[in-house]
Amino acid sequence: LKKNELVLLISKDSSYLTEVEKRKMHTKDGIFNLDELLKKKLGDSIQTHLKKKFKIAKPNLVDIFEKRMKRLPQIITTKDSASILAHTGVLQGSLVVDVGTGSGFLAIFLASYIKPGKVVTYEINKKNFKVAKENIRLVGLEKFVKIKNKDATKGIDEKNVDLVTVDVQNPEKVIKNAYKSLKVGGYLVVYSPTVEELMNAVGKIKSFDFSQVNILENIAREWKSELTTRPKTMGLMHTGFLIFARKLS
Ligand SMILES: C[S@@+](CC[C@H](N)C(=O)[O-])C[C@H]1O[C@@H](n2cnc3c(N)ncnc32)[C@H](O)[C@@H]1O
Repeated sequence: LKKNELVLLISKDSSYLTEVEKRKMHTKDGIFNLDELLKKKLGDSIQTHLKKKFKIAKPNLVDIFEKRMKRLPQIITTKDSASILAHTGVLQGSLVVDVGTGSGFLAIFLASYIKPGKVVTYEINKKNFKVAKENIRLVGLEKFVKIKNKDATKGIDEKNVDLVTVDVQNPEKVIKNAYKSLKVGGYLVVYSPTVEELMNAVGKIKSFDFSQVNILENIAREWKSELTTRPKTMGLMHTGFLIFARKLS
């Protein structure tokens, strides 16, 4: 392993994401001497001072999402992001416009699957713009995610777009610009946490020439299997509704 390389240390019960560097890492499983990683390769093991054994793995996108990326406003979680990919059929090479970058989770998720296609993402807030830029750099997607510090209600520059995603308050204010930037057959996806916002957005979408306006709520229930097997008592109970619409003309 090389200095500064990002690795995942994983055991049966827990996992840690860290750079390979000359320092000690204190965890609830004991202290890791990260120096030792310089003499190891992926697939080897490392122990804490409490003799707890961890395997060394290459982190994937979700590991970096969960353990490293900075979160500012509410993010679109992987279950909803995956559903956007699955239902719109965007592929490698597609052009996507993402309105409301936030911390960049959706933009990064989509770009990871459509590269060498591009995601152009609009963020009005300077602070969020900076955080998202740093997150995009962290996952090495600078070539595939272009972030603009612009208000999407004032205009979307891109034309002939395969997919426009909208995750902002009052999404109805962006729908006209989204419609203009889409290609015929391209998809608009609006993410709304509340029924009121959902209804305003659907009303606006229906005033343009879109077909197949569908609303989806992804309800995911986690179960646990320990002494007995049953649904978990606590969990993420609600994220948001997804509105899908396809440009007709
Ligand atoms: C809920 S967050 C988006 C989270 C993002 N989808 C993610 O997965 O990380 C909404 C973001 O939209 C930005 N925003 C709101 N109105 C906007 C507009 N008109 N144009 C561009 N960005 C806007 C806000 O500043 C905020 O950062």
